[in-house]
Amino acid sequence: MFWSLFCQGKMSSEPVNVNDFKELARLKLPKMYYDFYAGGAEDEHTLRENIQAFCRIMIRPRVLVDVSQIDMSTTILGHRISAPILVAPTAAHKLAFHEGEQATARAAAAAKTIMILSYSSTCSIEEVASSCNAVRFFQLYIYKRRDISALLAQRAERFGYKAIVLTADTPRLGRREADIKNKMIRPPIKNLDGLMSFDVNADQGSKFETYANVTLDASLRWEDIMWLRSTTSLPILIKGILTHEDATKAVEAGVDGIIVSNHGARQLDFAPATISVLEEVVHAVKGKIPVLLDGGVRRGTDVFKALALGAQAVLIGRPVLFGLAAKGEGGVRTVLEMLKNELEISMALSGCPCIKDITRSHVRTPYDKL
Ligand code: FNR
Repeated sequence: MFWSLFCQGKMSSEPVNVNDFKELARLKLPKMYYDFYAGGAEDEHTLRENIQAFCRIMIRPRVLVDVSQIDMSTTILGHRISAPILVAPTAAHKLAFHEGEQATARAAAAAKTIMILSYSSTCSIEEVASSCNAVRFFQLYIYKRRDISALLAQRAERFGYKAIVLTADTPRLGRREADIKNKMIRPPIKNLDGLMSFDVNADQGSKFETYANVTLDASLRWEDIMWLRSTTSLPILIKGILTHEDATKAVEAGVDGIIVSNHGARQLDFAPATISVLEEVVHAVKGKIPVLLDGGVRRGTDVFKALALGAQAVLIGRPVLFGLAAKGEGGVRTVLEMLKNELEISMALSGCPCIKDITRSHVRTPYDKL
Protein backbone atom coordinates (compact mmCIF):
# COMPACT_ATOMS: atom_id res chain seq x y z
CA MET A 1 0.00 0.00 0.00
CA PHE A 2 2.66 2.43 1.14
CA TRP A 3 4.94 1.46 -1.71
CA SER A 4 2.22 1.74 -4.34
CA LEU A 5 1.20 5.20 -3.11
CA PHE A 6 4.83 6.18 -3.05
CA CYS A 7 5.39 4.95 -6.59
CA GLN A 8 2.32 6.83 -7.81
CA GLY A 9 3.78 9.99 -6.34
CA LYS A 10 0.72 10.45 -4.12
CA MET A 11 2.49 10.52 -0.80
CA SER A 12 2.12 14.11 0.18
CA SER A 13 0.53 16.88 -1.78
CA GLU A 14 -0.43 18.51 1.51
CA PRO A 15 1.86 21.40 2.34
CA VAL A 16 4.32 20.77 5.14
CA ASN A 17 5.85 24.23 5.25
CA VAL A 18 4.83 27.68 4.06
CA ASN A 19 6.96 27.46 0.93
CA ASP A 20 4.74 24.60 -0.25
CA PHE A 21 1.80 27.01 -0.39
CA LYS A 22 3.49 29.03 -3.11
CA GLU A 23 3.18 26.24 -5.66
CA LEU A 24 -0.39 25.45 -4.59
CA ALA A 25 -1.26 29.11 -5.13
CA ARG A 26 0.43 29.14 -8.52
CA LEU A 27 -1.68 26.19 -9.65
CA LYS A 28 -4.86 27.84 -8.46
CA LEU A 29 -4.55 31.48 -9.47
CA PRO A 30 -4.76 33.10 -12.91
CA LYS A 31 -1.19 33.87 -14.00
CA MET A 32 -1.78 37.62 -13.81
CA TYR A 33 -2.79 37.44 -10.14
CA TYR A 34 -0.11 34.96 -9.16
CA ASP A 35 2.54 37.17 -10.74
CA PHE A 36 1.09 40.23 -8.99
CA TYR A 37 1.48 38.50 -5.61
CA ALA A 38 4.78 36.76 -6.22
CA GLY A 39 6.67 39.36 -8.22
CA GLY A 40 9.20 41.99 -7.22
CA ALA A 41 10.71 45.07 -8.82
CA GLU A 42 12.83 44.97 -11.99
CA ASP A 43 15.48 42.19 -11.87
CA GLU A 44 14.13 40.92 -8.54
CA HIS A 45 17.60 41.01 -7.01
CA THR A 46 16.22 42.24 -3.69
CA LEU A 47 13.44 39.65 -3.85
CA ARG A 48 16.05 36.88 -3.90
CA GLU A 49 18.24 38.64 -1.34
CA ASN A 50 15.39 38.92 1.17
CA ILE A 51 15.44 35.12 1.34
CA GLN A 52 19.14 34.48 0.84
CA ALA A 53 20.31 36.94 3.50
CA PHE A 54 18.47 34.88 6.11
CA CYS A 55 20.40 31.82 4.92
CA ARG A 56 23.74 33.50 5.70
CA ILE A 57 22.86 33.81 9.37
CA MET A 58 23.57 30.81 11.57
CA ILE A 59 22.00 30.00 14.90
CA ARG A 60 24.20 29.36 17.96
CA PRO A 61 22.15 26.90 20.04
CA ARG A 62 22.60 26.29 23.77
CA VAL A 63 21.98 22.92 25.35
CA LEU A 64 20.94 21.66 28.76
CA VAL A 65 18.39 24.39 29.28
CA ASP A 66 14.93 23.39 30.53
CA VAL A 67 12.83 23.76 27.38
CA SER A 68 9.96 21.55 28.49
CA GLN A 69 7.69 24.62 28.30
CA ILE A 70 8.02 27.12 25.46
CA ASP A 71 6.28 30.49 25.68
CA MET A 72 6.21 32.38 22.38
CA SER A 73 3.79 35.05 23.53
CA THR A 74 4.79 38.70 23.44
CA THR A 75 3.27 42.18 23.33
CA ILE A 76 3.26 44.75 20.55
CA LEU A 77 2.27 48.29 21.54
CA GLY A 78 0.69 46.74 24.64
CA HIS A 79 -1.34 44.11 22.76
CA ARG A 80 -0.67 40.53 23.82
CA ILE A 81 -0.24 38.08 20.94
CA SER A 82 0.48 34.37 20.87
CA ALA A 83 3.73 34.68 18.90
CA PRO A 84 5.76 37.50 17.33
CA ILE A 85 4.38 36.89 13.83
CA LEU A 86 1.96 39.47 12.40
CA VAL A 87 0.03 39.64 9.14
CA ALA A 88 1.62 42.28 6.88
CA PRO A 89 -0.59 44.68 4.93
CA THR A 90 -1.01 43.36 1.40
CA ALA A 91 -3.33 44.48 -1.36
CA ALA A 92 -6.40 42.89 -2.86
CA HIS A 93 -7.07 39.63 -0.99
CA LYS A 94 -10.21 39.05 -3.06
CA LEU A 95 -7.98 38.21 -5.99
CA ALA A 96 -6.92 35.18 -3.93
CA PHE A 97 -10.21 34.21 -2.29
CA HIS A 98 -13.74 35.53 -2.57
CA GLU A 99 -14.04 36.47 1.11
CA GLY A 100 -10.87 38.50 0.86
CA GLU A 101 -9.49 40.31 3.89
CA GLN A 102 -12.40 39.14 6.06
CA ALA A 103 -11.12 35.58 5.78
CA THR A 104 -7.57 36.67 6.52
CA ALA A 105 -8.72 38.62 9.57
CA ARG A 106 -10.56 35.60 10.96
CA ALA A 107 -7.44 33.49 10.51
CA ALA A 108 -5.34 36.13 12.29
CA ALA A 109 -7.87 36.13 15.13
CA ALA A 110 -7.69 32.33 15.38
CA ALA A 111 -3.90 32.56 15.60
CA LYS A 112 -4.25 35.31 18.24
CA THR A 113 -2.13 37.71 16.30
CA ILE A 114 -2.41 41.16 14.74
CA MET A 115 -3.59 41.81 11.20
CA ILE A 116 -2.52 45.00 9.46
CA LEU A 117 -5.22 45.89 6.95
CA SER A 118 -3.91 47.35 3.70
CA TYR A 119 -5.06 50.66 2.31
CA SER A 120 -5.54 48.66 -0.89
CA SER A 121 -7.89 46.22 0.82
CA THR A 122 -10.77 44.77 -1.17
CA CYS A 123 -12.99 44.56 1.92
CA SER A 124 -14.00 47.69 3.76
CA ILE A 125 -12.62 48.84 7.11
CA GLU A 126 -16.03 48.13 8.62
CA GLU A 127 -16.43 44.67 7.07
CA VAL A 128 -13.07 43.54 8.42
CA ALA A 129 -13.79 45.07 11.82
CA SER A 130 -17.09 43.25 12.11
CA SER A 131 -15.77 39.90 10.92
CA CYS A 132 -13.43 39.13 13.81
CA ASN A 133 -12.07 40.23 17.14
CA ALA A 134 -8.41 40.22 16.09
CA VAL A 135 -6.35 43.24 17.07
CA ARG A 136 -6.14 45.21 13.84
CA PHE A 137 -3.84 47.96 12.67
CA PHE A 138 -4.56 50.02 9.56
CA GLN A 139 -1.94 50.73 6.89
CA LEU A 140 -2.07 54.12 5.27
CA TYR A 141 -0.76 55.59 2.06
CA ILE A 142 -0.92 59.34 1.76
CA TYR A 143 -2.72 60.49 -1.35
CA LYS A 144 -2.44 63.82 -3.12
CA ARG A 145 -5.99 64.13 -1.84
CA ARG A 146 -4.82 64.12 1.77
CA ASP A 147 -8.36 64.52 3.01
CA ILE A 148 -9.12 61.00 1.70
CA SER A 149 -6.18 59.53 3.62
CA ALA A 150 -7.06 61.43 6.79
CA LEU A 151 -10.70 60.33 6.63
CA LEU A 152 -9.64 56.71 6.23
CA ALA A 153 -7.34 56.94 9.27
CA GLN A 154 -10.24 58.38 11.26
CA ARG A 155 -12.61 55.69 10.04
CA ALA A 156 -10.12 53.04 11.12
CA GLU A 157 -9.86 54.64 14.55
CA ARG A 158 -13.65 54.76 14.89
CA PHE A 159 -13.92 51.08 14.02
CA GLY A 160 -11.45 49.92 16.61
CA TYR A 161 -8.16 49.64 14.74
CA LYS A 162 -5.36 50.10 17.23
CA ALA A 163 -2.56 51.75 15.24
CA ILE A 164 -1.80 53.46 11.94
CA VAL A 165 1.02 52.00 9.85
CA LEU A 166 2.28 54.69 7.51
CA THR A 167 4.00 53.14 4.50
CA ALA A 168 6.81 55.51 3.62
CA ASP A 169 8.57 53.68 0.81
CA THR A 170 5.98 54.30 -1.88
CA PRO A 171 6.13 57.84 -3.26
CA ARG A 172 5.59 56.01 -6.55
CA LEU A 173 5.04 52.39 -7.34
CA GLY A 174 8.15 50.33 -8.10
CA ARG A 175 8.48 48.80 -11.57
CA ARG A 176 7.04 45.34 -11.27
CA GLU A 177 7.77 44.06 -14.71
CA ALA A 178 5.55 40.99 -14.55
CA ASP A 179 2.57 43.29 -13.95
CA ILE A 180 3.65 45.49 -16.83
CA LYS A 181 3.91 42.49 -19.17
CA ASN A 182 0.58 41.11 -17.97
CA LYS A 183 -1.08 44.54 -18.22
CA MET A 184 -2.20 43.91 -14.68
CA ILE A 185 -5.80 44.83 -14.00
CA ARG A 186 -8.12 44.04 -11.18
CA PRO A 187 -11.79 43.18 -11.32
CA PRO A 188 -13.97 46.23 -10.56
CA ILE A 189 -13.75 45.98 -6.78
CA LYS A 190 -14.06 49.25 -4.95
CA ASN A 191 -10.99 50.48 -3.11
CA LEU A 192 -11.24 51.78 0.43
CA ASP A 193 -10.83 55.28 -0.92
CA GLY A 194 -14.13 54.91 -2.76
CA LEU A 195 -12.47 55.43 -6.11
CA MET A 196 -12.61 52.69 -8.69
CA SER A 197 -9.14 51.34 -9.09
CA PHE A 198 -8.86 51.48 -12.79
CA ASP A 199 -10.84 54.41 -13.94
CA VAL A 200 -7.51 55.81 -15.01
CA ASN A 201 -6.71 55.71 -18.71
CA ALA A 202 -3.75 53.46 -19.26
CA ASP A 203 -3.30 51.94 -22.65
CA GLN A 204 -0.09 50.17 -21.86
CA GLY A 205 1.61 48.51 -18.95
CA SER A 206 0.19 47.89 -15.50
CA LYS A 207 -2.99 49.79 -14.74
CA PHE A 208 -2.26 49.24 -11.06
CA GLU A 209 0.96 51.21 -11.45
CA THR A 210 -0.77 54.00 -13.34
CA TYR A 211 -3.48 54.29 -10.69
CA ALA A 212 -0.96 54.39 -7.85
CA ASN A 213 1.19 56.99 -9.52
CA VAL A 214 -1.77 59.24 -10.23
CA THR A 215 -3.05 59.09 -6.65
CA LEU A 216 0.01 58.84 -4.35
CA ASP A 217 1.50 62.00 -2.86
CA ALA A 218 5.18 61.95 -3.80
CA SER A 219 5.81 65.19 -1.93
CA LEU A 220 5.39 63.62 1.52
CA ARG A 221 8.19 64.63 3.97
CA TRP A 222 9.21 63.99 7.57
CA GLU A 223 7.46 67.20 8.59
CA ASP A 224 4.15 65.66 7.48
CA ILE A 225 4.21 63.16 10.35
CA MET A 226 3.04 66.12 12.46
CA TRP A 227 0.07 66.54 10.14
CA LEU A 228 -0.75 62.84 10.38
CA ARG A 229 -0.55 63.06 14.18
CA SER A 230 -3.08 65.85 14.10
CA THR A 231 -5.58 63.64 12.25
CA THR A 232 -5.59 60.66 14.64
CA SER A 233 -4.87 59.82 18.24
CA LEU A 234 -3.72 56.31 17.36
CA PRO A 235 -0.06 55.29 17.66
CA ILE A 236 1.81 55.62 14.35
CA LEU A 237 4.27 53.05 13.04
CA ILE A 238 6.38 53.90 10.04
CA LYS A 239 6.98 51.14 7.51
CA GLY A 240 9.82 51.09 5.00
CA ILE A 241 12.87 52.16 7.04
CA LEU A 242 16.17 50.64 5.86
CA THR A 243 18.92 52.92 7.24
CA HIS A 244 20.13 54.23 10.59
CA GLU A 245 19.72 57.78 9.26
CA ASP A 246 15.99 57.33 8.70
CA ALA A 247 15.59 55.35 11.92
CA THR A 248 17.00 58.33 13.84
CA LYS A 249 14.64 60.69 11.99
CA ALA A 250 11.69 58.44 12.77
CA VAL A 251 12.50 58.57 16.48
CA GLU A 252 12.91 62.36 16.28
CA ALA A 253 9.58 62.63 14.47
CA GLY A 254 7.97 60.94 17.45
CA VAL A 255 6.59 57.82 15.79
CA ASP A 256 5.67 54.88 18.00
CA GLY A 257 7.41 52.13 16.08
CA ILE A 258 9.39 51.23 12.99
CA ILE A 259 8.92 48.43 10.49
CA VAL A 260 12.13 47.59 8.67
CA SER A 261 10.80 46.76 5.23
CA ASN A 262 11.60 46.98 1.54
CA HIS A 263 7.95 46.36 0.65
CA GLY A 264 8.63 42.72 -0.11
CA ALA A 265 11.20 43.83 -2.74
CA ARG A 266 8.45 45.44 -4.84
CA GLN A 267 9.76 48.98 -4.76
CA LEU A 268 13.49 49.71 -5.20
CA ASP A 269 15.45 46.82 -6.64
CA PHE A 270 18.89 46.65 -5.00
CA ALA A 271 17.52 47.95 -1.74
CA PRO A 272 19.18 45.77 0.89
CA ALA A 273 17.65 42.62 2.30
CA THR A 274 15.79 43.70 5.41
CA ILE A 275 17.48 41.22 7.75
CA SER A 276 20.88 42.60 6.68
CA VAL A 277 20.04 46.13 7.92
CA LEU A 278 17.95 45.27 10.95
CA GLU A 279 20.80 45.68 13.43
CA GLU A 280 21.78 49.05 12.01
CA VAL A 281 18.24 50.29 12.64
CA VAL A 282 18.01 48.68 16.07
CA HIS A 283 21.25 50.38 17.18
CA ALA A 284 20.03 53.78 15.98
CA VAL A 285 16.72 53.41 17.81
CA LYS A 286 18.44 52.53 21.10
CA GLY A 287 15.37 50.78 22.49
CA LYS A 288 13.22 53.94 22.42
CA ILE A 289 10.51 52.43 20.20
CA PRO A 290 9.80 48.91 18.95
CA VAL A 291 11.39 47.73 15.71
CA LEU A 292 9.61 45.13 13.58
CA LEU A 293 10.75 43.54 10.32
CA ASP A 294 9.27 42.02 7.21
CA GLY A 295 10.61 40.60 3.96
CA GLY A 296 11.45 37.00 3.20
CA VAL A 297 10.32 35.45 6.47
CA ARG A 298 9.42 31.89 5.50
CA ARG A 299 10.60 29.77 8.42
CA GLY A 300 10.44 29.74 12.20
CA THR A 301 14.22 30.00 12.16
CA ASP A 302 13.87 33.28 10.20
CA VAL A 303 11.66 34.63 12.97
CA PHE A 304 14.20 33.47 15.54
CA LYS A 305 17.04 35.21 13.67
CA ALA A 306 15.13 38.49 13.40
CA LEU A 307 14.36 38.45 17.11
CA ALA A 308 18.00 37.69 17.93
CA LEU A 309 19.02 40.74 15.90
CA GLY A 310 16.67 42.98 17.82
CA ALA A 311 13.25 42.85 16.15
CA GLN A 312 10.28 42.72 18.46
CA ALA A 313 8.25 40.81 15.88
CA VAL A 314 8.06 40.01 12.18
CA LEU A 315 5.34 40.41 9.57
CA ILE A 316 4.59 38.00 6.76
CA GLY A 317 3.18 39.05 3.41
CA ARG A 318 3.22 36.56 0.55
CA PRO A 319 2.84 33.39 2.65
CA VAL A 320 -0.52 34.72 3.83
CA LEU A 321 -1.63 35.47 0.26
CA PHE A 322 -0.51 32.05 -0.94
CA GLY A 323 -2.26 30.35 1.98
CA LEU A 324 -5.42 32.30 1.19
CA ALA A 325 -5.26 31.46 -2.51
CA ALA A 326 -4.61 27.77 -1.87
CA LYS A 327 -7.08 27.06 0.91
CA GLY A 328 -8.97 30.19 1.91
CA GLU A 329 -9.19 31.13 5.59
CA GLY A 330 -7.95 27.66 6.60
CA GLY A 331 -4.86 28.14 4.47
CA VAL A 332 -3.94 31.35 6.27
CA ARG A 333 -4.53 29.63 9.61
CA THR A 334 -2.24 26.80 8.57
CA VAL A 335 0.48 29.20 7.39
CA LEU A 336 0.44 31.01 10.73
CA GLU A 337 0.36 27.74 12.69
CA MET A 338 3.25 26.31 10.67
CA LEU A 339 5.44 29.32 11.39
CA LYS A 340 4.50 29.26 15.05
CA ASN A 341 5.27 25.54 15.30
CA GLU A 342 8.62 26.07 13.60
CA LEU A 343 9.48 28.97 15.89
CA GLU A 344 8.58 26.84 18.88
CA ILE A 345 10.90 24.03 17.86
CA SER A 346 13.66 26.51 16.96
CA MET A 347 13.41 27.98 20.46
CA ALA A 348 13.45 24.54 22.06
CA LEU A 349 16.47 23.39 20.06
CA SER A 350 18.32 26.65 20.75
CA GLY A 351 17.75 26.62 24.51
CA CYS A 352 15.34 29.58 24.65
CA PRO A 353 12.14 28.86 26.59
CA CYS A 354 10.81 32.45 26.25
CA ILE A 355 11.03 35.18 23.64
CA LYS A 356 13.20 37.30 25.94
CA ASP A 357 15.74 34.45 26.12
CA ILE A 358 16.55 34.91 22.42
CA THR A 359 19.59 37.20 22.37
CA ARG A 360 22.19 38.54 19.96
CA SER A 361 24.56 35.79 21.03
CA HIS A 362 22.18 33.19 19.58
CA VAL A 363 23.12 34.08 16.01
CA ARG A 364 26.25 34.56 13.94
CA THR A 365 26.05 36.88 10.95
CA PRO A 366 28.57 37.19 8.09
CA TYR A 367 29.84 40.39 9.75
CA ASP A 368 30.63 38.85 13.13
CA LYS A 369 34.19 38.02 14.05
CA LEU A 370 34.65 34.35 14.81
C1 FNR B 1 2.55 44.14 -0.44
N1 FNR B 1 3.01 45.04 0.51
C2 FNR B 1 2.23 46.14 0.85
N2 FNR B 1 2.67 46.99 1.79
C3 FNR B 1 1.90 48.04 2.16
O1 FNR B 1 2.32 48.81 3.02
N3 FNR B 1 0.67 48.23 1.58
C4 FNR B 1 0.18 47.42 0.62
O2 FNR B 1 -0.92 47.60 0.14
C5 FNR B 1 1.00 46.33 0.21
N4 FNR B 1 0.58 45.50 -0.77
C6 FNR B 1 1.33 44.39 -1.09
C7 FNR B 1 0.84 43.51 -2.04
C8 FNR B 1 1.55 42.35 -2.33
C9 FNR B 1 1.02 41.41 -3.35
C10 FNR B 1 2.76 42.07 -1.64
C11 FNR B 1 3.53 40.81 -1.91
C12 FNR B 1 3.25 42.97 -0.72
C13 FNR B 1 4.27 44.78 1.24
C14 FNR B 1 4.01 43.95 2.49
O3 FNR B 1 3.38 44.71 3.48
C15 FNR B 1 5.30 43.42 3.11
O4 FNR B 1 6.19 44.48 3.29
C16 FNR B 1 5.97 42.33 2.27
O5 FNR B 1 5.01 41.51 1.66
C17 FNR B 1 6.87 41.47 3.15
O6 FNR B 1 7.59 40.59 2.38
P1 FNR B 1 7.17 39.06 2.14
O7 FNR B 1 6.73 38.48 3.46
O8 FNR B 1 6.08 39.07 1.13
O9 FNR B 1 8.43 38.46 1.62
